[in-house]
Amino acid sequence: MPGAIHAEGLVKTFGNVRALDGVDFDVPEGTVLGLLGPNGAGKTTAVRVLTTLLRPDSGRAVVAGVDVLKHPNEVRRSIGLSGQFAAVDEYLTGRENLEMVGQLYQMGARASKARAGELLERFSLADAADRTAKTYSGGMRRRLDLAAALVVSPPVMFMDEPTTGLDPRNRQALWEVIQELVAGGTTLLLTTQYLEEADHLAHDICVIDRGRVIARGSSDQLKARTGGERVEVVVHERDHIPVADQVLHALGKGETTVEEHTRKVTVPVVGGAKLLAEVIRELDSRGVEIDDIGLRRPTLDDVFISLTGHGAEEDGTDQASSGADQASTGKASSGKASKGKASAGAGKGGK
Ligand SMILES: Nc1ncnc2c1ncn2[C@@H]1O[C@H](COP(=O)(O)OP(=O)(O)O)[C@@H](O)[C@H]1O
Ligand SMILES: [Mg+2]
Repeated sequence: MPGAIHAEGLVKTFGNVRALDGVDFDVPEGTVLGLLGPNGAGKTTAVRVLTTLLRPDSGRAVVAGVDVLKHPNEVRRSIGLSGQFAAVDEYLTGRENLEMVGQLYQMGARASKARAGELLERFSLADAADRTAKTYSGGMRRRLDLAAALVVSPPVMFMDEPTTGLDPRNRQALWEVIQELVAGGTTLLLTTQYLEEADHLAHDICVIDRGRVIARGSSDQLKARTGGERVEVVVHERDHIPVADQVLHALGKGETTVEEHTRKVTVPVVGGAKLLAEVIRELDSRGVEIDDIGLRRPTLDDVFISLTGHGAEEDGTDQASSGADQASTGKASSGKASKGKASAGAGKGGK
């Protein structure tokens, strides 16, 4: 079986921008694919093609067993989509909006009411449930939009950066609802710029950059590909960053990553604890005071930096002007020293 979502050789250009440059992936039924990439990578374009909103220049897509280009209407009946396109009716209350979705999908009045109430509660909208949506703040609208996408559980769902702009509490609530839907058999394609989110929710991850899949696998596989452990040092004084950078560069295996504002320098290493001791000795002999030092496994941030040579939060849209365009060759580069990015940090829950 080709999987609940099948994309094959998708190409879409806008002028001279190749938003999709030959994208292939499969999402097996009942699993979550995390489509991970920075701004401008082509994530939304891929979602729009797969949800029948945009015709690709070439390639093929099959969703829930139906050819997207040949039978778009049929595809629409078996998918759910959350993103900027979902429609919230301004003149209905939050509760009415959600109940209406349930009824549109023939859930029955009672079940629709119950589901609406539950989602309003979970997305911190219970107090505002009976106000019209036009009185909602941007954040509340966003949560209502997400809730609307989650009223029913279609066989295949697409969520385009669902947690962008959500506070931690609502993000957690969303993750839980998503996990319940998937446990119930829904197949999900989730796009995200949050490496931690893909790590937490997705069975498989496709890293895309500039319209191409540059890596795929489970989060563990991607981490393994990036190499083993890292030594991470936080120096006491900002002025000591360059020395620490030198020391880690000399003792480590690969490029260092410097995060100025946290005074953190990181480098991939082999040799574990023994090397850690060596790093401490060397820093000590050079008079560098250490606030914190440790060994850690690579995060998906490391994966991203090592694959693309730039951090996930940097804007990747200037592809036409990019000179050092390693990523477009599809090869993993060792990554240049980069500002890096702190992990989003809410820790790991169960997968
Ligand atoms: N309708 C459009 N017209 C012109 N360019 C577009 C359009 N949609 C997307 N693009 C360009 O295609 C590239 C991929 O965009 P997009 O799929 O939105 O990326 P992402 O969702 O990963 O941020 C970007 O360079 C973007 O500027
Ligand atoms: Mg997008």
